[in-house]
Amino acid sequence: MSGRVSVAIIGVGAMGEALASGLLAAGWAPDEIALCVRRAERAEELSRLIGSPVTFDVAEAISGRDVVVVAVKPRDVAVVLETMAGGIRPGQTLLSLAAGVTTATYETGLGEVPVVRAMPNTPALVREGVTGIAAGRYATAQHLEAAKEVLGAVGTVKVMDEGLLNAVTAVSGTGPAYVFLMAEALTEAAMREGLPRDVAESFVNQTIRGAGHLLTDTTKSPAQLRYEVTSPGGTTAAAMHILEERGFRALVEDAVRAAAIRSGELGAAQEGGGGETS
Ligand SMILES: NC(=O)c1ccc[n+]([C@@H]2O[C@H](COP(=O)([O-])OP(=O)(O)OC[C@H]3O[C@@H](n4cnc5c(N)ncnc54)[C@H](OP(=O)(O)O)[C@@H]3O)[C@@H](O)[C@H]2O)c1
Repeated sequence: MSGRVSVAIIGVGAMGEALASGLLAAGWAPDEIALCVRRAERAEELSRLIGSPVTFDVAEAISGRDVVVVAVKPRDVAVVLETMAGGIRPGQTLLSLAAGVTTATYETGLGEVPVVRAMPNTPALVREGVTGIAAGRYATAQHLEAAKEVLGAVGTVKVMDEGLLNAVTAVSGTGPAYVFLMAEALTEAAMREGLPRDVAESFVNQTIRGAGHLLTDTTKSPAQLRYEVTSPGGTTAAAMHILEERGFRALVEDAVRAAAIRSGELGAAQEGGGGETS
């Protein structure tokens, strides 16, 4: 035993796979991660890609594992809870990644189990994720530590009140999509200005990567960094004028609000036994 917490991942789609790959890259051995799926083709694919034991049986996957990650869509959580009933031991940590689904939903379904609710994002795939986590009623500091150890392998982790997780969902959980939409729009605009597609794509992608590094590697605020590339009457000023005039900030604010509201609705649908999707 390496001293690392052992993990079971129930539902291995985009997020579950990102987490499993990140854990392997961080030094977990394949057999320290149990994967639970519901389709044979997916089982085969994951055996090839990840090399961890794969099962269709939730009870088998979670047995003896320190952290049990629920990474199915919110609408599938109820079914997973039924198959888990009585199977989670007090020393285990149930780590839910399902958007909007509250720790209370798990506690209602499973009783006094230690639940940690998390909102990660897909840059976890390249170990650049950011995750907010919150403890349920029966989760102790030790359970939070176990959750941090797993999610910390694929990015940064911050503990917070559960009430803030819908906002985190809207900002960082959904956030990569905002950046990807910006990348698409900027690439199309670059091509309209005459750049060949491959040049447009590589310049846009590297600009986003470089600006991201600049932002995280400095103590300067985004506004300050922006002022530094904006001379009066210059090219950036001309572009910023259009973005401000056409309501860029209000658009972003409205998009984030819509995502946060949706996250709350997804959670409420599970509490009411509904079948909403994410
Ligand atoms: N993707 C993101 O950016 C992101 C970010 C933060 C949080 N999340 C949360 O992470 C969770 C997973 O999202 P995702 O994007 O990874 O979805 P996804 O790609 O659809 O993955 C979900 C996986 O769960 C499997 N599954 C469903 N029911 C199952 C069951 N009873 N037993 C075993 N496997 C089962 C599905 O199998 P099939 O292939 O057969 O459908 C699918 O492979 C969601 O709750 C979401 O809210 C996602």
